[in-house]
Amino acid sequence: MMAVAITTPGGPMVLKPERRDVPLPGPGEILIRVKAAGVNRPDVAQRKGVYPPPPGASDLPGLEVSGEVAALGAEVKRWRVGDQVCALTPGGGYAEYARVHETNALPIPAGFTYTEAAALPETFFTVWHNVFQRGGLKGGEAFLVHGGSSGIGTTAIQLAAAFGAYVITTAGSAEKCEACLRLGADRAINYRTEDFVAAVKQATEGRGANVILDMVGGDYVARNYEAAAVEGRIVQIATMGGAVASTDFSRLMVKRLVHTGSTLRPRPVEVKADIAAGLEAHVWPLLSSRRISPVMDMIFPLREAWRAHERMEEGQHIGKIVLDVA
Ligand SMILES: NC(=O)c1ccc[n+]([C@@H]2O[C@H](COP(=O)([O-])OP(=O)(O)OC[C@H]3O[C@@H](n4cnc5c(N)ncnc54)[C@H](OP(=O)(O)O)[C@@H]3O)[C@@H](O)[C@H]2O)c1
Repeated sequence: MMAVAITTPGGPMVLKPERRDVPLPGPGEILIRVKAAGVNRPDVAQRKGVYPPPPGASDLPGLEVSGEVAALGAEVKRWRVGDQVCALTPGGGYAEYARVHETNALPIPAGFTYTEAAALPETFFTVWHNVFQRGGLKGGEAFLVHGGSSGIGTTAIQLAAAFGAYVITTAGSAEKCEACLRLGADRAINYRTEDFVAAVKQATEGRGANVILDMVGGDYVARNYEAAAVEGRIVQIATMGGAVASTDFSRLMVKRLVHTGSTLRPRPVEVKADIAAGLEAHVWPLLSSRRISPVMDMIFPLREAWRAHERMEEGQHIGKIVLDVA
């Protein structure tokens, strides 16, 4: 099969097409004939050599795919050859075939194209787990998501709004803020021109945000503690602004905050299966009815994955970048 590999750690041009053996599905796994693969920021980190694949995962990049079931491993119960699925992969998505545990695949929502379906798993699994399962966001609460125009951010805005939260977001330009408002955010803060702590306090009449989803870290840690409501939950999913921070922990005690975090990729298939079940029950109906949709930025051919990474690193994108594998 054709696949795009990381030939050596480095810039986008180290992504090169290669011939590889088609992977064999193990017990409980399905082989997917990939039609489209999503591009995510962690792929960029893997390409640079700072985010190695977990043990047992493919060395190829790619954390999500859509396509057709091409073969079944032993003991597969749910799927048949020919079923149309999208799936979370622990790696190996930038290829014509990928193998995945059957419980980490979901049916393609009604009416979705393969490229739209490939844009779902990574951000929907991440947001469902971190915002709703870990953060416990409920309708009527105030939710702050940083990086609102990112793949993660555009998903978090739509899901939080659909479940009745008051949604506040930050983004780095007026154009990105407008896109966030169109997606259902109640308030979008341009963090380059406004102090997000003051803006969150103002938008919540002084109460602060009940749940904060943060991918920045660094000096945002102390500022998130200021922007959080009493009993607020702060969920860390990345540290793009720095992994080390100095903060006044008395804010954590006085407000009785919970600061937690997680990384999805190394979790066991059982945990991902549980997230998939929650998504299928509560979120897939919203996708099938088009109440929410993935925000599609640009689509590139698989062979030109380097262009997709260049686009992501330029930081002008809004929503998801996807590779067309068909
Ligand atoms: N923990 C997990 O399980 C998990 C899973 C998936 C993804 N992630 C992480 O989630 C993040 C988003 O992923 P993605 O694929 O959605 O990426 P993406 O679309 O490339 O988005 C990255 C966003 O980060 C914002 N940003 C970057 N540096 C910033 C800074 N210093 N201050 C404020 N905002 C900054 C950018 O917004 P502006 O242009 O507005 O600055 C951009 O919208 C990544 O860091 C990724 O590694 C974590």
